[in-house]
Amino acid sequence: MDKDKKEMKIKIVKNGPYIVSGGVPLYQQVIVTDEAGHTKDLMDEKQYPVKETYTLCRCGESKDKPYCDGTHVGTGFDGTETASRKPYLEKAEIFEGPELKLTDAHEFCDHSRFCLRSGGIRNLIEKSSDPEAKQTAIEEAMICPSGRLVLWDKKTGKPFEKEFEPSIVLVHDEQKKCQGPIWVRGKIPIESADGTLYEARNRVTLCRCGKSENKPYCDGSHWMTAQQKLKFRKKWGLDEE
Ligand code: FES
Repeated sequence: MDKDKKEMKIKIVKNGPYIVSGGVPLYQQVIVTDEAGHTKDLMDEKQYPVKETYTLCRCGESKDKPYCDGTHVGTGFDGTETASRKPYLEKAEIFEGPELKLTDAHEFCDHSRFCLRSGGIRNLIEKSSDPEAKQTAIEEAMICPSGRLVLWDKKTGKPFEKEFEPSIVLVHDEQKKCQGPIWVRGKIPIESADGTLYEARNRVTLCRCGKSENKPYCDGSHWMTAQQKLKFRKKWGLDEE
């Protein structure tokens, strides 16, 4: 597994696509909702043929999605990477309940909305001495594609994380009627256009619509209006950093 991870890589091209190398498996999954309309899980929709190297569109304009067709060259796509390079735990706020601790780095949010079920994850953490609330909170944190949310067991000090095969999932947000981000799983190294590496994490989401203001990460711009984004940034004080 470690050998595979070393060979796999995502290289960001300046104002261009993501070059994926090392035979990274590529899937498409759709977000599914519960009876109340809350997003709950992701289901396989498609598996792409395995290729040693491929380029994924980052500007959102390719006619050959998910692959790059060179359209970014003629459109003047600005793919400047604006995300902070601080490690996740330095960015995250901490919330604690009786049995669980949550670390929450808002700027990673891809707005897949998995944390809203059953009254929301913070509410569930406060009630985490109740086994059902605890279990739902764990499910919500572990499915958060962007890795904004990480839940920790206060007894063991360990995070609840799924063991992912290193792979890429193209998220299809059926509820919002749009394509979502590129979900990178299993600590695949991501190299900036400037040659430096981003922190390798079990879960992150990369922008593929070209509109994120936190590139290379997704910030929900694929479905959120400018006003909704402003409200979110204000709520979490993201413009004050
Ligand atoms: S894909 Fe989510 S902001 Fe671009």
